[in-house]
Amino acid sequence: MPHDAVFAMVCCQNGSEPAVKAEVAKDGWRLAFSRRGFVTLKHEDVPKGLPRGVFVRTAAWSLGMVKGEDFATNSEKLLEVLLSGGRRERFDQLHVWPRDRVPVGKFDFEPGIDEISRLVGEELAATLRDRRLLRGELNAVAKPGERVLDVVLIDPAQWAIGWHDVPRLSGAAAAKMVARTWPGGVQPLEPPGEVISRAYYKVAEAIAWSGLEMEPGDLAVEIGSSPGGACGLLLEKGLRVVGIDPAEMDPEILAHPIYQHVTAQAGDLPLSRYHGAKWLLVDANVRPDQTLATVERIVTDREHTIEGILLTLKLGGVEHADRIPGWIKRVRQWNAHDVRVRQLARSKIEVCLTGRIKR
Ligand SMILES: C[S@@+](CC[C@H](N)C(=O)[O-])C[C@H]1O[C@@H](n2cnc3c(N)ncnc32)[C@H](O)[C@@H]1O
Repeated sequence: MPHDAVFAMVCCQNGSEPAVKAEVAKDGWRLAFSRRGFVTLKHEDVPKGLPRGVFVRTAAWSLGMVKGEDFATNSEKLLEVLLSGGRRERFDQLHVWPRDRVPVGKFDFEPGIDEISRLVGEELAATLRDRRLLRGELNAVAKPGERVLDVVLIDPAQWAIGWHDVPRLSGAAAAKMVARTWPGGVQPLEPPGEVISRAYYKVAEAIAWSGLEMEPGDLAVEIGSSPGGACGLLLEKGLRVVGIDPAEMDPEILAHPIYQHVTAQAGDLPLSRYHGAKWLLVDANVRPDQTLATVERIVTDREHTIEGILLTLKLGGVEHADRIPGWIKRVRQWNAHDVRVRQLARSKIEVCLTGRIKR
């Protein structure tokens, strides 16, 4: 870590900035600059590492900001920043993306690379390659050990510049850092066909980040399965799936040979209904306490077979983020370990909690 790396920049969901500010404060980070979906933070001392937290989607060491009238001006300024103080570092990857200008889901907004950031990124990549400052392609998934140059378009004319390393880790520890490999912390995903609901993307991101080793042939139960986006992803991965929901499932999922549907409320079912399942997913539109009570009943049953849980917990507003430690404490009482909580890039005002259950 260089001695001048006392500023960091963080992208989060539009509206989650107060939660980011609160959670990074315990590690000594203080707010320096803020826009919806983007904050820079200052550390007065030597920080232990980049800011981390439930609401931190991406984090990078900040090199500064440039603001100009056009691409050429900003690009010149960016080169000045990169070459200042005799520095001449070559980056492995270049990630360019916009901050979230509206909350996820509002006006159908989805986070990630848009047309403007793609165009800016292409020109920038060419400029940096000409100067031998970049090895990789634009917005490629970074590998362990690679150094990434990050450019966030606060607006098309104002860019924030930073960098981060992808740690050399493997297994579940690497999974925890997987968002550092993705441009803008958003998983690049090309579904083979039309998805049934956006829960398809949510569950894909949650599986990648949780490190839970979901294998073909495993049995997964999803409570709150209708209309079937998440089940679609699980079936694509070759898992056997039981969906529990009083609401209707998409016919394509219902017709799938390794899908079974149970038309019921989860709480009305006998515990034996869950025996044999390895993974328990809950995405029910109910209060977090109710979700936790439902899961508690299942994983404290002496005969349960669950090895991992993946829960959507509806926050109801980022001002309720202070409830998260209490939820984690409750989950740990169920013999759970490696409990992780994150506001997924494609989640709305909710968090994803995952954990492994010892039997
Ligand atoms: C956000 S949707 C689920 C989306 C779904 N996971 C997908 O992949 O498309 C929430 C669902 O939770 C269901 N739900 C609410 N309470 C439930 C309960 N106690 N048991 C089962 N399903 C429940 C609702 O009927 C609703 O269909």
